[in-house]
Amino acid sequence: MLKPEQPIGIFDSGVGGLTVASAIKQLLPGEKMIYFGDTAHLPYGDKSTDTIIRYSRHIADFLMEKGIKVLLIACNTASAVAHNELVRYLGNRVHIVNVIDPAVDFITSQYPHEKVGVIGTKGTIKSGTYERKILEKDRGIEVSSLATPLFVPMIEEGFVYDDISNAIIRAYLSEESLRDIKSLILGCTHYPIIKNQIRKFFNFSVDVVDSANVVASYLKNILEENQLLNTGRKPEHVFYVSDYTEYFEAIARMFFEERLNLARKNIWNES
Ligand code: DGL
Repeated sequence: MLKPEQPIGIFDSGVGGLTVASAIKQLLPGEKMIYFGDTAHLPYGDKSTDTIIRYSRHIADFLMEKGIKVLLIACNTASAVAHNELVRYLGNRVHIVNVIDPAVDFITSQYPHEKVGVIGTKGTIKSGTYERKILEKDRGIEVSSLATPLFVPMIEEGFVYDDISNAIIRAYLSEESLRDIKSLILGCTHYPIIKNQIRKFFNFSVDVVDSANVVASYLKNILEENQLLNTGRKPEHVFYVSDYTEYFEAIARMFFEERLNLARKNIWNES
C-alpha cells in the first residue's frame, strides 16, 4: 500500500522537467522528489516511439526501485507516446501522471470554442495527442499545432533572452496558422524557461499556458483524493542525470536554491 512519506518520481530528457518540479516545490512543499534527467539521450523530441518507450520504461524501473508513490512523466514527448505503455507496464503499483492531460483540462475549461495553438517537439506534435485529447473534450475548439524543434537544443545550450533565441522564436511563431489564437500551450516542459520571451513576441495579447502550475495542482488533487499528501518537514530532493552537464546543474541550482543533491547515474550500463 502506498504511503504519504514516499517520494514522487519525476523524469524528463533534461532540464525541462525542472520547471514542473519547481512548481511542485512551491505548491507541495512537503513532497520529496526524485528527479531523473536523461541528459545522455536528449533530445527525446526526434526519437522514435519505440526508443522513447524503451527509455521511459527503464527510467520508470529505476524510480520504482526508489519506492515512489507517483510517477510523473514531466516530458511532453514521453507523455504523448509512452504514457499508455507505462500505465500498462506498471499497473496499479503507482499513480502515473503525465503533463498533457492537466493542460488539456485547463485549456478546454478556459477556452471553450476558441482557437488555440500548441507548440512542442516533433514527436509530440506528430503524435497528435494534444489535438486528439482537446477535441475529445470540446469539438468546437480549433487547434493549430506546430513543431518547434530548435527550442530544446537552443534552451539546453543556454540561448535564452538574447538575439539568437528572439530570431528563432520569431521564425517559428510568425507561422500563419498561429494567427488569431487566443491561447498558446507550451507543449514541452523546456519552454516555460522562455515563456516571457514568447509572451513578448505576441505583445502579451495571447495567453501563454505552461503546464508546470496546472500539473502541480493536478498532482495535489490526486494526492489528496488518495490520502497521499505529505505535509511533513522540508524534504531533501535528489536529482540524477544520465550524463553530467554544467547547464543542468546551473538550472537546477536556479530552481532549487538549497544545497543540490545531484548525481550522475548510468542506468544503462553503457560505460
Ligand atoms: N522537455 C521535453 C518535452 O516536454 C523533451 C524535449 C526533448 O528532449 O526533445 O517534450
